Amino acid sequence: MTMPRPVLVVDFGAQYAQLIARRVREARVYSEIVPHSMSIDEMLARNPAAIILSGGPSSVYEAGAPQVDAKLFDAGVPVFGICYGFQAMAQALGGTVAHTGSREFGGTPVLLSASALFGAGEQNVWMSHGDCVTAAPAGFTVTASSGGAPVAAFENVAQGLAGVQFHPEVKHTPGGQTMLERFLYEIAKIEPTWTMGNIIDDAVEAIRSQVGSGAVVCGLSGGVDSAVAAALVHRAVGDQLTCVFVDHGLLRAGEAEQVERDYVAATGIKLKVVDASGRFLSALAGVTDPEQKRKIIGREFIRAFEAAVPSDTRFLVQGTLYPDVVESGGGTGTANIKSHHNVGGLPDDMQFQLVEPLRTLFKDEVRALGVELGLPEAMVYRHPFPGPGLAIRIIGEVTASRLEVLRAADLIAREELTASGLDRDVWQFPVVLLADVRSVGVQGDGRTYGHPIVLRPVSSEDAMTADWSRLPYELIARISTRITNEVRDVNRVVLDVTSKPPGTIEWE
Ligand code: XMP
Repeated sequence: MTMPRPVLVVDFGAQYAQLIARRVREARVYSEIVPHSMSIDEMLARNPAAIILSGGPSSVYEAGAPQVDAKLFDAGVPVFGICYGFQAMAQALGGTVAHTGSREFGGTPVLLSASALFGAGEQNVWMSHGDCVTAAPAGFTVTASSGGAPVAAFENVAQGLAGVQFHPEVKHTPGGQTMLERFLYEIAKIEPTWTMGNIIDDAVEAIRSQVGSGAVVCGLSGGVDSAVAAALVHRAVGDQLTCVFVDHGLLRAGEAEQVERDYVAATGIKLKVVDASGRFLSALAGVTDPEQKRKIIGREFIRAFEAAVPSDTRFLVQGTLYPDVVESGGGTGTANIKSHHNVGGLPDDMQFQLVEPLRTLFKDEVRALGVELGLPEAMVYRHPFPGPGLAIRIIGEVTASRLEVLRAADLIAREELTASGLDRDVWQFPVVLLADVRSVGVQGDGRTYGHPIVLRPVSSEDAMTADWSRLPYELIARISTRITNEVRDVNRVVLDVTSKPPGTIEWE
């Protein structure tokens, strides 16, 4: 595969490495994250175009703190140190790092001299440090200082080395992206060629060389990742790919049609639709326990999927993304099928080779790729949706009529959110039917005895933690009025104001 030479972002154990890698890619330069435990020889073996040392939580002079081997700086590869990486660089090259007692945290003015990274003047930058560099290594020019950091940046342009105490990768450093770009373009002399067009060309070539003339299958769920992965594989190998869509009858209004009609129209993909809704409903009859529901749905999904896979299939497409790869500690190598894949995971005895064309991409890149491949916007910007679908949003037994009620309420919430222009401000907006709870109401002239609907809009970055979204009251009121007016059996709408933790995003 003709991947460009990477900029390696060395992760010193905080949250910064992914952000740096994303900013480098925003500069249209390909980047990868590597652990600080990787040896310099291994890094150099990747033929990096440059190396960025990230921030991290340790003190460089503490016993056991991750260090940088000074031979990195003699390898002729441009290096940029950020925060901890800056201090580790200073120490490795003979400068000094100390705890002077003057911590800086948050927006901080720094005085800059004209340099390869920035022009002269005062700029506000984001600082987060207890230690600071007190003397730059020999041969380096000090190019910035702040109240708490006498050496807030240094560089040795002839050797392609530079570093900053602050965080250019965060949005709170307004000039930060420009500094990163000046390092990449001016100091490291890298051309910005990591564009969507090139990503597609590279991926197409890689897929072709992996699968040859073999038959490939991809399970579509209606979600973004599988949709983009399949579209990319289709671009590479056309009708060697068969997509299988198991309609378990637990999707939201319009979603099955989106896959069967709009997606096929946009891509020309060969799609096998398995209408298994009857089978799923009978298997779920009488079941109220959430984990039991998940197990049943997982099992039925696998049965339906297996039966639909053409017998000569050798490859299985998975929409694995780069954060999954980084978080599972993997860089290269062969991946296992993720156990949390869509609906319950696929069985161990399905012997496919995996095709994972999104393994190097972040979610926002996957969305951009989807747009570039001509997928419908509604699909590309869809909120995450759990594999077991509406079954875990009906608290109680799942039945056809309860699904109908929940679908109608959910559609109203989605329509109103979209109409208010707030789709992209919300991570997910589960709508939950408390089917086993009844509430008294008065509608028209009579008493009703119906069910409550819970609205659960949340804001989140990654679903690991979340907060309830502060949606405008007028919007909540419109949703509530429409649901109680338009959806039978519902006489009450409540808003879930719990963060995660302690709550989870889903109710089950
Ligand atoms: P929780 O409810 O654990 O959800 O805060 C975190 C994220 O995972 C989704 N979710 C699931 N996705 N199968 C899935 O594919 C599941 O069984 C499942 N349960 C929760 C949830 O929608 C949220 O995005």
